[in-house]
Amino acid sequence: MKYIVANWKSNKTVQEAEEWFKKIRIKFSEINCAKLNDVEIIVCPPAVYLTMVKKYITDYSLPMKLGAQDVSSFKMGAYTGEISARMISGLAEYVIIGHSERRKYFREEDKSLGEKVKQANSVRLKVIYCIQDANTFIPEGATIAAYEPVWAIGSGKADTPDNANQVISIVKKKSGIKTVLYGGSVTPQNIKSYLSIGQIDGALIGGASLDAEKFWEIILHASTN
Ligand code: PGA
Repeated sequence: MKYIVANWKSNKTVQEAEEWFKKIRIKFSEINCAKLNDVEIIVCPPAVYLTMVKKYITDYSLPMKLGAQDVSSFKMGAYTGEISARMISGLAEYVIIGHSERRKYFREEDKSLGEKVKQANSVRLKVIYCIQDANTFIPEGATIAAYEPVWAIGSGKADTPDNANQVISIVKKKSGIKTVLYGGSVTPQNIKSYLSIGQIDGALIGGASLDAEKFWEIILHASTN
């Protein structure tokens, strides 16, 4: 099973999100979706769109799972502006935690990230935990890890499949996590080189996931059927 995760980050208006789903729906309708049963497709829109995106997935019967991009380190309660794990779990199955942009712009670090993982675990949300290199601390309870070197994110300078494969093997050995993805400038052109090399179980895709056509091509390349 390969994991293809779209991280929309803080992008797309309501109309743009709708257009993306209209386009991707047509793509899915043109093929036999059973062909894609070896790919877990996960879309992580901004939290305000989770309800809407869930409805698109259900109404259009899309073989996609829903994920959030972040979660509060606190339980439900008097924490203005926060979105708790319990709220997300009513809508989504996955949550990204520890993305380097959260660490950089919102000063998230090991302690609060560990709390976030605990919150996610308490409601059985599956955690996609982002690490920047093989030395990044991974708290107990992460289901999937994603190796994303900071310099490769949004830069067009992806890590080499060889190096990503090597880092991911180390991460697997050190952490015991069985599913580790690569992220950083993944495109329809380079996705196959990561998925065919051995230890890389999928990709976390930012920029290329915003374009329905590019994301679709990535999905097709990820499927071996
Ligand atoms: P990118 O982003 O694909 O635009 O490089 C990846 C990510 O930050 O998850």
